[in-house]
Amino acid sequence: MRKYFIAGNWKMHKTVAESVTLAKDLASGLKDCGEKIMIAPAFTALSAVADAIKGGSILLGAQNMGPEEQGAHTGEVSVLMLKDLGVKVVILGHSERRHAYGEDDALVNRKVRLALSHGLETILCVGETLEEREGGRLEAIVGTQIREGLAGVAPGLLDRVTIAYEPVWAIGTGKTATPEDADAVHAFIRTVIAGLYGPESAKKLCIQYGGSVKPDNVAQLMAKDNIDGALVGGASLKPETFVPIAKFR
Ligand code: 13P
Repeated sequence: MRKYFIAGNWKMHKTVAESVTLAKDLASGLKDCGEKIMIAPAFTALSAVADAIKGGSILLGAQNMGPEEQGAHTGEVSVLMLKDLGVKVVILGHSERRHAYGEDDALVNRKVRLALSHGLETILCVGETLEEREGGRLEAIVGTQIREGLAGVAPGLLDRVTIAYEPVWAIGTGKTATPEDADAVHAFIRTVIAGLYGPESAKKLCIQYGGSVKPDNVAQLMAKDNIDGALVGGASLKPETFVPIAKFR
């Protein structure tokens, strides 16, 4: 039976104390959950959350990372610092980074390669805006985000890459892609990966869906052949919603 990858992106929410409380509640609520689970608190709470989940099976994630190892880069957080805190997975290329902070595919690619070269897993986020979808450009946009995001990534490193398909119009809006629509885009993503890395790698690739995933829609989404997990925003901020999402089966 396949193991789903359910990840919580806490975005810019919660103080250190609130993050620790949530992390402990999740650790206890999910201790008998057989899925792969990750939580990504804000940078300021990573250290405390690392302690709170120590010894359990929840993976510590980060929401972003600088493109350089270290140096004069005011305001950035380095891969070395994340590893030092026990971070195992880093979310890269989130649409909020792309659209609000101007991250382009070349920058995302530098981060992806750096994270992988240091042994981190990465969740590479891709997705189209409503305008791009309605203009018939979904495949061009998502295809480019994948090809450029993974440029120079050796086939041997692909098992540490998850792709999260997050249609921008579905993030934080309460609008979810239908399971059928999401599955069709995930199938397209597999064909792009097959073109780059071959059909076996495409089959094995973990593809998460993200965008208004909630306890009442998660099971229908996960039932689809090409959906291997979820990247959850708003509903990852409360045990009452994240625990049932992770325990959807
Ligand atoms: P929401 O679940 O709040 O729509 O956010 C999705 C997301 O952006 C996760 O990275």
